[in-house]
Amino acid sequence: MRLQGKTAVITGGANGIGLEAAALFAREGAKVAIVDFDAATGEKRAEELKKQGLQAAFFQVDVAERISVDKMVEDVVNHFETIDILVNNAGITRDALLTKMSEEQFQQVLDVNLKGVFNCTQAVVPYMIAKGKGKIINTSSVSGVYGNVGQTNYAAAKAAVIGVTKTWAKELGRKGINVNAVAPGFTETTMTAKVPEKILNQIVTMIPLQRLGKPSDIAYAYLYLASDESNYVNGTVLHVDGGIMM
Ligand code: NAI
Repeated sequence: MRLQGKTAVITGGANGIGLEAAALFAREGAKVAIVDFDAATGEKRAEELKKQGLQAAFFQVDVAERISVDKMVEDVVNHFETIDILVNNAGITRDALLTKMSEEQFQQVLDVNLKGVFNCTQAVVPYMIAKGKGKIINTSSVSGVYGNVGQTNYAAAKAAVIGVTKTWAKELGRKGINVNAVAPGFTETTMTAKVPEKILNQIVTMIPLQRLGKPSDIAYAYLYLASDESNYVNGTVLHVDGGIMM
């Protein structure tokens, strides 16, 4: 029970890595707010966790829209009273080569993957400052660290997530808030299901562990950074990628 008594907000919690983290955090004793754009799936997943005797609730949000984020945070605090942990996990891809990428594709990814992180963190942080304690976990990517063909928009946003993580670690450390990032490698979710199998097979040959990541591989990294075990870890980027590049 590494998160007993804590309340965690997990953005993008209805699917993939976020869903795995929501279930894991709830099993570790947390009250989990699954927050996501996808209401139909999110409601269902929260109900499934509740049926297992776990504490979870769904709240719809578009992380790219500040009004929506403010409402979500207010609703979560009304429901669970407080927020101790924020996992900025929601993310999208709109892949295209630089020569073919539209301005809209560029903007959409920046809006969700970077502005979404800013919106949620800025809205949640006052509650953590008031308590003098909190954990913020941002989701970067192997693409943001090393770049990736077809991901100008995504790599830009995920590299920026590392920049804001280090900035907030410096700004918020004195308030008792730890801010860290996880940089997942290629992980088996609907996001990578869009990548052609041939390319995924090529990627696997570049990974020393010779497999793609599982959502649970990333969820356990989130758990470590959300728990008291990481109380002296601040401003770090935890690479969970099978060692694809070192
Ligand atoms: P996924 O596509 O399975 O799940 C993403 C979730 O985010 C979905 O439930 C979706 O509804 C939600 N979402 C999308 N836009 C939203 C918005 N505007 N507001 C609220 N929720 C929104 O993706 P996956 O693979 O679980 O990714 C989770 C995080 O991990 C993302 O930040 C992604 O960029 C990152 N990541 C994933 C990798 C992978 O290979 N799957 C690799 C590296 C990073």
